[in-house]
Amino acid sequence: MSTYVLMRLLESAPHRYDRGIQILTFGHVGRAYDRLVRQISPGQRVLDIGCGTGALTLRAAARGASVRGIDRDAEMLAIARERMAQEHLEDRVELADEGVAELDAEPAAGYDVVMSGLCFSELSPDELRYTLTQVRRMLQPGGLLLVADEVLPSGFVARLFYRVVRAPMVVLTYLLTQQTTHAARRLADRLNDVGLAVIDEQRSLLGSFTCLVARRQDDPAAPAAAT
Ligand SMILES: C[S@@+](CC[C@H](N)C(=O)[O-])C[C@H]1O[C@@H](n2cnc3c(N)ncnc32)[C@H](O)[C@@H]1O
Repeated sequence: MSTYVLMRLLESAPHRYDRGIQILTFGHVGRAYDRLVRQISPGQRVLDIGCGTGALTLRAAARGASVRGIDRDAEMLAIARERMAQEHLEDRVELADEGVAELDAEPAAGYDVVMSGLCFSELSPDELRYTLTQVRRMLQPGGLLLVADEVLPSGFVARLFYRVVRAPMVVLTYLLTQQTTHAARRLADRLNDVGLAVIDEQRSLLGSFTCLVARRQDDPAAPAAAT
């Protein structure tokens, strides 16, 4: 549960990222991604925010979706391009060197599905707020947001345990990379605030990892109830 923060170390060696993340999480993240992409149907238009080396992007494309992956790390994208070519998915995948700050250039209601794996926890609170607002704008009515990421556990004891176990990793990672991750707090409420209702959520790793599906609500004036 405390190992997400070590992602930052893996990102500084992108060629080791995929293997590293599988080892660190005992394959948990890969299984979560496999589950999430079952929501995607052939022919759908999909955006992957912080696509990295393409773990979610390529899974979605393999299901027949047309996928645009954006990431601000050119080295991670270079690996995604290699994998895309190896898996012969070039005709269904478009990769762009873009940060979330550029999401306003994406078309309104342009996607059936927006997804993100382990990226929201790398955004500052302001970036996350902005990104969620953009996600709602970019989704067509009834479109889905799929998220697999680190979150703050909900109970007091679980949160305390999480912070204590995580602290040494935070220090180590910060010393080596000057970066850390920010487990999202009350993600379902934040989604609700921008008009995205959580319709399914599975928590694991003592409540610190979420795999959730949210749907765009059609009436922005009436925020949906989160489940
Ligand atoms: C932990 S990696 C996950 C990559 C991929 N989604 C996966 O699951 O394998 C997080 C990714 O988010 C990207 N990222 C972080 N902040 C970003 C931002 N502001 N805009 C775009 N990408 C960002 C990083 O460059 C990195 O590739």
